[in-house]
Amino acid sequence: MTLIHSTSEFSSWRKKIANQTIAFVPTMGALHSGHHSLIAHAAQQCDLVVVSIFVNALQFGDADDYSKYPRDEHSDYVASVAAGANIVFAPQQHDVFPADFDRYLTPSPLANNYEGQHRPGHFAGVVTVVNRLFDIVQPDVAIFGAKDYQQVAVIRAMSNELHPTIRIVSLETVRDTDGLALSSRNARLNTASRHQAQVIPRALQVIANLHAQGEQRSHVLKSEGLKILGLVPNMHVDYLEIVQQQTLDTVEEARNAVLLFAGVLDGVRLIDNLLLQ
Ligand code: PAJ
Repeated sequence: MTLIHSTSEFSSWRKKIANQTIAFVPTMGALHSGHHSLIAHAAQQCDLVVVSIFVNALQFGDADDYSKYPRDEHSDYVASVAAGANIVFAPQQHDVFPADFDRYLTPSPLANNYEGQHRPGHFAGVVTVVNRLFDIVQPDVAIFGAKDYQQVAVIRAMSNELHPTIRIVSLETVRDTDGLALSSRNARLNTASRHQAQVIPRALQVIANLHAQGEQRSHVLKSEGLKILGLVPNMHVDYLEIVQQQTLDTVEEARNAVLLFAGVLDGVRLIDNLLLQ
């Protein structure tokens, strides 16, 4: 169990274990059970598990959001190891992005809508840091959460092009007992808004039930979902779209589809999604 703070130290460790397989879980810290499940799954996939903890300034549009991001390296280290990590890689900003860094990437067109539209530059920051981390860590498998559905699609596109040997795995969203997807942002909700946030899993459940009963028309599913979300007046819906699972193009019939949701509740941005097979 080792905590590594620099890319040079990581590279020397990496050379020593060249014949072992590595499963990699990139994170920005503030670890919760969603992250733990990725790490536990990683431990079943390969000889060694590397967890990175790096709050990536490039993917935050808002400097305030970046500076407020919760940071507690020690507890994240302890939680990573408890979940099954062998190496926790927590590099410094200047080490990941030195002054002469010039490998800024443009994300695939899959990044154009939804999160990409509401958070300009976000996915460019994500693919740039993940590409950089892949170069350093050189994993066999990299594990991400399906909670960030579009993020996995955009990372997969980047990785297929630049790191074709890395297997990208996406794992199911871990939820709180009331169904709300776990997120480091949930801690920013006060008691009242945390309660109101239940409207999100409730809307998703209503849509899932209708779909299971045979309703496939996107406009019907969306309008039923919006009715539920509308029960909480301070919920501002950024988007609720039904899209094809691979292309992320909107579809009129919800087959091989995924419903993507983003909304802002009392200043806290929350996202979720639901597969509609
Ligand atoms: P972060 O938000 O820390 O998330 C790290 C990983 O945990 C991501 O793959 C995310 O999808 C997954 N995750 C978050 N909440 C989850 C939940 N409730 N259930 C299952 N998995 C969950 O996503 C990022 O960091 C960054 O963009 C990163 C990929 C590390 C690049 O900086």
